[in-house]
Amino acid sequence: MRFDIITVLPQLLDSPFAHSILQRAQNKGLTEIHVHNLRDYSDNKHKSVDDYPYGGGSGMVMQIAPFAACIDKLLEEREYDEIIYMTPDGETLNQEIANQLSSNAKNIMILAGHYKGIDQRIRDIYVTKEISIGDYVLSGGELPAAILVDAIVRVIPGVLSDETSALSDSFQDGLLDAPIYSRPVDWKGHKVPEVLLSGHEAKITEWRHEQQLKRTKERRPDLLND
Ligand code: ADE
Repeated sequence: MRFDIITVLPQLLDSPFAHSILQRAQNKGLTEIHVHNLRDYSDNKHKSVDDYPYGGGSGMVMQIAPFAACIDKLLEEREYDEIIYMTPDGETLNQEIANQLSSNAKNIMILAGHYKGIDQRIRDIYVTKEISIGDYVLSGGELPAAILVDAIVRVIPGVLSDETSALSDSFQDGLLDAPIYSRPVDWKGHKVPEVLLSGHEAKITEWRHEQQLKRTKERRPDLLND
């Protein structure tokens, strides 16, 4: 699975993809992540990519020409299943969207905006999906893009060493995850629940499911209503 991310701040994406699970997924050849500097597609000598908004108002707008040049070049090289714009007014990211993109898409292009946003015509002409990571506004689309890539890549089969562990993540079965414990059994009087030490698999499974329901009811009753 291949990602192409277009941004004015490629440095912001150096670290998220260079460690841990995302790095291993790339090393195993399960994903490729390419970051493109939008300024390389600016045709003016200052390499600027933004301008004042028509009609007035505060903030700068990312212009259509550099984005179009970069997107067109990528489209000449391969087909994309989705061209995604990260924006607070998009559809809110959830596990189902991540799973669907992970199993259905081979090539995904992601546009990370800055300043006030991107010229609406880029959205109209090229973008196939608009995704928000939550109801708050960040300074740019780079961190949201990294979050989207992480959510998609961790559910590609073979990315996590324990095949079942992505499936047991919170949200995969519509429920939050059960509490987890490791050694020591007793930390200053705070003990691990007996059932987890019992070795009785059926009882443990039942306990975990009860805990999942309890947690979901307390913290996210909206998930149960769905
Ligand atoms: N860009 C700025 N804020 C964002 C958000 N909440 N989701 C996606 N992209 C964004």
